Amino acid sequence: MSHFDLVVIGGGPGGYVAAIRAAQLGKTVAIVESESALGGTCLRVGCIPSKALLESSHLFEQASHISQRGVVVENVKLDLPAMLKHKEGVVRQLATGIDGLMKKNKITRLLGHGRLNGVGKVVVDGKDGSQEVTCETVLIATGSVPAILPGIELSGDRIGTSTEALAFPEVPKHLVVIGAGYIGLELGTVWRRLGSKVTVLEYLDRILPGMDSEIANEAKKIFEKQGIEFRLGCKVTGAKFDGQQCQVTIDGSDPVVCDRVLVAVGRKPNTQNLGLDTAGVQVDKRGFITVDPHYQTSVAKVLAIGDVIGGAMLAHKAEEEGIAAVEHLYTGYGHVNYNAIPGVVYTDPEVATVGKSEDVLKDEGVAYKKGTFPFMANGRAKAMGSVDGKVKVLAHATTDRVLGVHIIGPHAGDLIAECVAAISFGASSEDIYRTCHAHPTLSETVKEAAMAVSGRAIHF
Ligand code: NAI
Repeated sequence: MSHFDLVVIGGGPGGYVAAIRAAQLGKTVAIVESESALGGTCLRVGCIPSKALLESSHLFEQASHISQRGVVVENVKLDLPAMLKHKEGVVRQLATGIDGLMKKNKITRLLGHGRLNGVGKVVVDGKDGSQEVTCETVLIATGSVPAILPGIELSGDRIGTSTEALAFPEVPKHLVVIGAGYIGLELGTVWRRLGSKVTVLEYLDRILPGMDSEIANEAKKIFEKQGIEFRLGCKVTGAKFDGQQCQVTIDGSDPVVCDRVLVAVGRKPNTQNLGLDTAGVQVDKRGFITVDPHYQTSVAKVLAIGDVIGGAMLAHKAEEEGIAAVEHLYTGYGHVNYNAIPGVVYTDPEVATVGKSEDVLKDEGVAYKKGTFPFMANGRAKAMGSVDGKVKVLAHATTDRVLGVHIIGPHAGDLIAECVAAISFGASSEDIYRTCHAHPTLSETVKEAAMAVSGRAIHF
C-alpha cells in the first residue's frame, strides 16, 4: 500500500495547484481525479472552453461588422464544427500541460473516484477496481456541480447545463437561459453572437446578483442593445422537451417555447460519495464542507478548499486557497485576502469587480467617495471602437483608501488586476492616479476614475 504526505482529492485548479505547492515544499503527493484529464470543471467544461468560444464568436461578430472600420470581409460564414474543434484543441493542450507539471513535480496520479475511508485513508475506485492509499493529510478539492431546479427535466443538449451549452451541435434558433449570472450571460453572449435569439429569465429584479448594481444595470442596457432579451422577476418552475420543442414554465406567466434551454441557476458543492461520514467531516446545511480559517475541516488532517467550502465559486479563489492551505500546513503561514479576489464576467464588454460594491458600502454605513470615468472619453477605446461602459472607483471618505473598483468595458478583466494590487497593498485613490499610466491605453480609464474620486479627472 502506498503512503503519501498529502493526498489531494480533485484535480481542478484548486487541487492540482495545491499538489504542486506541496511538492515544491518537499512533500510526497498524490492527486486523485476521476477524469483522465486534470484541470477540473474550469479546464474541461468551464472557464477555458467558454473563453475559447467567447474569443471565436467575438471574431465572427467582428468580421461581420467591420466594414465601417475599412476592413471589408465578404461572405462571413460560421463553421461551427471548426469552432468547437478549436475549443477542444485548446482544452487538450492545456490538459497536456498540467500532465507535464505533475511529472515535473513528481506527483503521483491516481485515476478514479476518491473517497475517504476513515482518517488518513483514501480509496480510489477506478475502472479496474479499487485501491487504498494512506497519507498524513488529505486535501479535499472536489469542486461543485450545476444546481438544477425542481421541475426541470434535463434532456441532453435540448435542456442542459453549461456542459451541453459549450458544445451545441447547431446554433439554437431560440435559446432560453435560466439565470442571469456568470454562466448565463457568458454563454448567452456566445450563442447570440453566433445567431441565436437569446432570452434570459431571471428570478431577481436585476442581473449579476452580488455585483455592484450600478455596473450591473449598465451591463443590462448594453446587453439589451446587443439583442439579448431579459425578463426579470421571472421564477422558472419547470422545463421539458417534448421531442420537438422545449417549454419553459414560469410562475404567474405564460410558458416560453424555444428549441434549447441553458440552466444556469448556480452550482452546489460536490460531496457525493466522498466518504465524509467515515472520517466525521461536517458539512453545513447547504452541503458545503465547513472549515476553519486554515482550511481545516472538523477533522484534524483533513483539509478542504475551493467551491466545496463555499464562497465565490471561482477558479482563482480555489487556487489561492489551495496554496494557503498547503503553506499553512507545512510552513505555518498561509493566508487569502478575500477582499482582494477579483470577479470577471467575460461578456462583451467584460464586467470586472474587486472589493466592496457601492450597495454593500451603503448597507454597512461606510462613508465613501466615488469616481467614475466612461470608456467613451478614452482615446484607445475610441480607436478600438469599443466605447461602452465605465470604471467606478470607491474610496474611503476620510482615508481615501480604495474600497472597491467596478468596471464594465473592454478588457475589464485585465484592467482589474491593477485595482486588485491596489486593494492588496492598501492603496489610496491618490496612489493610483499619481502612478503614471501609459498613453494611449485603456488603463488610463482606471487612473481617471481614481482622479474623479477627488473631482480632478482631466478628460471628462
Ligand atoms: P450564478 O449564481 O452566477 O447565477 C445564477 C442566477 O440564477 C442568479 O441570478 C439567480 O437569481 C438565478 N435563478 C435562480 N433560480 C432561478 C429561477 N427559478 N428562475 C430564474 N432564475 C433563477 O450562477 P451561474 O451563472 O450558474 O454560475 C455558477 C458559478 O460558476 C458562479 O458562482 C460563478 O462564480 C461561477 N462561474 C464563474 C465564471 C467566471 O469567473 N467568469 C464563469 C462561469 C461560472
